[in-house]
Amino acid sequence: MKLKTLYSFFGTDLDIIEEELKRITASNYPLITEASLELIEAGGKRIRPVFVLLSAMFGAYNIDVVKHVAVALETIHMASLVHDDVIDDADIRRGKPTIKAKWNNRIAMYTGDYLLASSLVAMTNIENPEAHKILSKTMVEVCLGEIEQIKDKYNYEQSLRTYLKRIKRKTALLIAVSCQLGAVSAGASEDLHRKLYWFGYFVGMSFQITDDILDFTATEKELGKPVGSDLLQGNITLPVLFAMKDADIRAEIEKVSAETTADELKPIVEKIIRTDAIEKSYALSELYLEKAFAILKYLPRGRAKSTLSSIAKYIGKRKF
Ligand code: IPE
Ligand code: IPE
Ligand code: MG
Ligand code: MG
Ligand code: MG
Repeated sequence: MKLKTLYSFFGTDLDIIEEELKRITASNYPLITEASLELIEAGGKRIRPVFVLLSAMFGAYNIDVVKHVAVALETIHMASLVHDDVIDDADIRRGKPTIKAKWNNRIAMYTGDYLLASSLVAMTNIENPEAHKILSKTMVEVCLGEIEQIKDKYNYEQSLRTYLKRIKRKTALLIAVSCQLGAVSAGASEDLHRKLYWFGYFVGMSFQITDDILDFTATEKELGKPVGSDLLQGNITLPVLFAMKDADIRAEIEKVSAETTADELKPIVEKIIRTDAIEKSYALSELYLEKAFAILKYLPRGRAKSTLSSIAKYIGKRKF
């Protein structure tokens, strides 16, 4: 099923979130407002807000409350994208020029910071200290995830464990917390918060693994962002870790450095794709999804649960 079809379940609630996103990111500085607005209007899957809404349905769902949580999560995500495109030197995002490409790194830095601060503003509309604590702790972890990634660039000695810890911080936590905070803000029981958190965590791990596979196998047109750039930038992702099990390929991969050009990298990437690394990566992504589905079994039946399940299925098969 397509995401759009699944999203029709929310009626006008997603439109309310779009409006709130625009409202909260509008500033006195036209440039920052314009940059944020372009990123919002370029689209994106809105996976995090959708998980917030669905999780809130396990409690007392009220769009006027939960919209603030959804906006808080999407603005953190947007901030991380804007900063990520500076770190990864990416010119395309959501099919449009990135902020750093259209303007420059400095504007991207300010816009990312502004979005991060906007997230806190959105969240303070919810008078719940537990929710504030969870959100601020998550922000710190996401930042640490990106810092670790920079620290581990071109480090071919890193283990699978290091990789998993990194993607947990940079991606899975935000999705886990989207589910958790949706439930918290709707006054659902603690048992439900916890289950939804772990559901989001496993889905998030699978999501980033798929993203790392797609960097090798998809096209820029499909993804709306550059492909083949992870290894070029020195980001050692799961397919690379699996491919390095072969000593000959490992020797070639280890030569990749900041001086390596895209043309020089091409044959290495082709070799990686020809190994079983992609297949093995998909298997691990699938394993995480199965863990997510196993948790879903313990959630109360209803449309929220079946939609969570459909979105998780989509994530397993996604091509963009
Ligand atoms: C991209 O996230 C960054 C990752 C965590 C892989 P999304 O794939 O959710 O990006 P948008 O919001 O749909 O553009
Ligand atoms: C995603 O990392 C993590 C973020 C917090 C943005 P990527 O660098 O893989 O994200 P994309 O592929 O540029 O969306
Ligand atoms: Mg990155
Ligand atoms: Mg990137
Ligand atoms: Mg990526």
